[in-house]
Amino acid sequence: MGLPDEKPWMPDDGNTNGPNLARVYNALGGGTHTFGADREMANRLLAVEPELAYWVRSNRAFLARSARFVFGSGIRQVLDVGAGLLAPGSVHELAAQVAPDAQVVYLDLDPVVVAQANDILRGQPRVVAARGDLREPAEMLRVAVDAGLDLTRPVAILLVAVLHFVQDSDDPVGILARLRDAVPAGSYLVVSHASPPPTATPAGDQAKKEYSERTAPVALRTREQVERLFAGWELLEPGLVQPAFWRPEPEDLAEPADVERAKGTPAWVGVAVKS
Ligand SMILES: C[S@@+](CC[C@H](N)C(=O)[O-])C[C@H]1O[C@@H](n2cnc3c(N)ncnc32)[C@H](O)[C@@H]1O
Repeated sequence: MGLPDEKPWMPDDGNTNGPNLARVYNALGGGTHTFGADREMANRLLAVEPELAYWVRSNRAFLARSARFVFGSGIRQVLDVGAGLLAPGSVHELAAQVAPDAQVVYLDLDPVVVAQANDILRGQPRVVAARGDLREPAEMLRVAVDAGLDLTRPVAILLVAVLHFVQDSDDPVGILARLRDAVPAGSYLVVSHASPPPTATPAGDQAKKEYSERTAPVALRTREQVERLFAGWELLEPGLVQPAFWRPEPEDLAEPADVERAKGTPAWVGVAVKS
């Protein structure tokens, strides 16, 4: 089942005055699950950095390709952390297409996200949404098990556009090590992580400042810093790349201009397996 299309889902979270991170991201991706404050902020961000909308689409397209890849590799359990608002192409929809027997657990820090997911998913089998904080991996895994994941069987952990909200002081390397130790061999790790733009511009700096101040602080990391997060995981081909270069469909990068645009995306993505 997809999203209700008759009207946008509007959470009654008491936070209608300010923008909300998940809703701003939804607005940037062309979604409609937003309030005026979210759209206003998305538009302001787009005014300083018009490529943001492409970057969000590119990230969502990577999410879809990598999820299809793990299902194609036989994975039947997915833990999607920092899942964000459900939108077309969310993991349970992909599972329904290619792995209908798969169990999907969505976790997010934001109660707005969890409420939206529960509203939409109500009654659907093999998909659960719950509150979970990546910075508390032990507690987060307990929630995932309660939600139906069997951590004695391989699982794909999706950390798509969420690790850059984990500050160095929260020890992201340690968090990933704990997740790695908690899952069996044959489990997958899917990461997409925002990075400093290849060339810093006043507009980019302003966008980051706005996003950090008005939604959540962002910890942009370089390619080398993101690579370090994969310690103990075996990074699969093509390694750590910008989103559009991760196993693209033939038509994705057909034009030289597509390739140039993709090269300007300030993010690194990768898929790894625990061997
Ligand atoms: C940019 S959205 C990404 C959504 C989706 N993964 C995607 O890539 O389309 C980031 C999401 O991470 C969530 N988030 C931020 N910090 C988190 C944390 N410590 N634990 C769990 N979720 C978190 C936010 O609430 C938000 O919904």
